[in-house]
Amino acid sequence: MDTQLNISPPGFELEFQGSFENLLKWRRDVRRFKPDPLPENSVDEILALAALAPSVGNSQPWRFAKVQSGDKRQALRDHFQICNKDALSDYHGEKAKLYAELKLSGMDVSPAQLAVFCDHSTTLGHGLGKKTMPETLDYSVVMAVHTLWLAARARGIGVGWVSILNPREVESILNVPKGWTFVAYLCIGWPEEEHDDPELVRHGWQERVDISKFIVER
Ligand SMILES: Cc1cc2nc3c(=O)[nH]c(=O)nc-3n(C[C@H](O)[C@H](O)[C@H](O)COP(=O)(O)O)c2cc1C
Repeated sequence: MDTQLNISPPGFELEFQGSFENLLKWRRDVRRFKPDPLPENSVDEILALAALAPSVGNSQPWRFAKVQSGDKRQALRDHFQICNKDALSDYHGEKAKLYAELKLSGMDVSPAQLAVFCDHSTTLGHGLGKKTMPETLDYSVVMAVHTLWLAARARGIGVGWVSILNPREVESILNVPKGWTFVAYLCIGWPEEEHDDPELVRHGWQERVDISKFIVER
């Protein structure tokens, strides 16, 4: 019996729609953080909102490791340096020079850091929706990451996604349960600067492309 049948949903007025558009436009990938701590419970509150994301079969396969130990953070920073040096070696000339100047992680300063995993061993959802596309489990985790990103930004808190890491190495450093595979490393904190354009656009790495270029009609 659905006891909530008569509850009407909230209206999302024009004013909210404008604010939501601003949230999307001002959500940035942040790498430059103030070291100041976040208000107590803010990470937990943001995680609770992230868990409202959709997931295949309602499997909720997102798993979060709060990386708090100084030793683990140092090990991950060292590992990032190795991966970033290796990535740099793929570029040559001007592009290599530019890559070397980019700041690609806030792991040095961000007060809160989360490693996000997908639990491929979960029985939640009873397999619904993922038989033909097992990767939908990972997509569900990415939905939660984006929800988290927006929820944080709505509070003025910045999030930066670091992927210049070897997944197996992160799983080993953080000693996560078997079946969890690494999806994202998130640096979270107060942004040092505010921008409405991506850092990679500002630093001449990659322009934004108009969406019309990416749409086909069939
Ligand atoms: C899957 C994924 C991985 C990313 N990995 C990194 C990363 O390792 N380092 C980094 O500086 N930015 C990373 N980013 C952020 C992107 O560079 C950023 O989203 C993009 O440049 C657009 O900028 P914006 O997020 O501010 O709009 C990642 C973003 C996504 C979605």
